[in-house]
Amino acid sequence: MKTLILNCSPVRDGATAFICALAAEVMSERGEVRSVCINDYSFSFCRGCRSCHLTGKCVMSDGVDKLMAELDEADRILFVSPSYWADVPGQFKAFIDRCTPWSNTHEPHASLRGGKLSYSIVLRTGGGMKECERLISTIEHYCGHLEITPSGSLALCSVDGKAAAEARSEEIISFCRGML
Ligand SMILES: Cc1cc2nc3c(=O)[nH]c(=O)nc-3n(C[C@H](O)[C@H](O)[C@H](O)COP(=O)(O)O)c2cc1C
Repeated sequence: MKTLILNCSPVRDGATAFICALAAEVMSERGEVRSVCINDYSFSFCRGCRSCHLTGKCVMSDGVDKLMAELDEADRILFVSPSYWADVPGQFKAFIDRCTPWSNTHEPHASLRGGKLSYSIVLRTGGGMKECERLISTIEHYCGHLEITPSGSLALCSVDGKAAAEARSEEIISFCRGML
């Protein structure tokens, strides 16, 4: 079982990164874990040209191909995302837009290996759960169109920085153990 953990935050040493590292520790008890950060990849915005609707391919070739190769290698993917303005960070949203060649909304489309599962952990500074639900919905909507089965989520409100994430370690560990 290969797990990919994607830090959807551009911050490599913040609260999101802490959660990714803790999740990697727990999940490496059973199988191979690879952790990457959205900022490890350099790619352009989707141009909205819709060529991929006809060809199943993007007219651009860049870091998106590398990150998609990581997704393809994995049997399950854990997305860890902070809220930026009540949704996923722009860097991750830009990646989602560029995955349109893989979307099952048009034929032909590119496909990942079948049978993948996805999980999400979302975090925010504010206290309301509704905003977390919006992030989970963005991630699960994306997974649905790539035929990756959403299989669980954890929402962490009132997290502002690494120390606050550390204080939630038990919840995070228990969620990750549930994925084993
Ligand atoms: C640009 C930006 C926008 C943010 N927008 C929100 C928001 O809309 N709602 C919220 O609750 N927290 C918001 N936050 C706070 C982050 O979700 C929170 O601090 C999170 O722990 C950051 O994770 P990080 O340490 O990995 O960067 C925002 C933070 C940044 C940098």
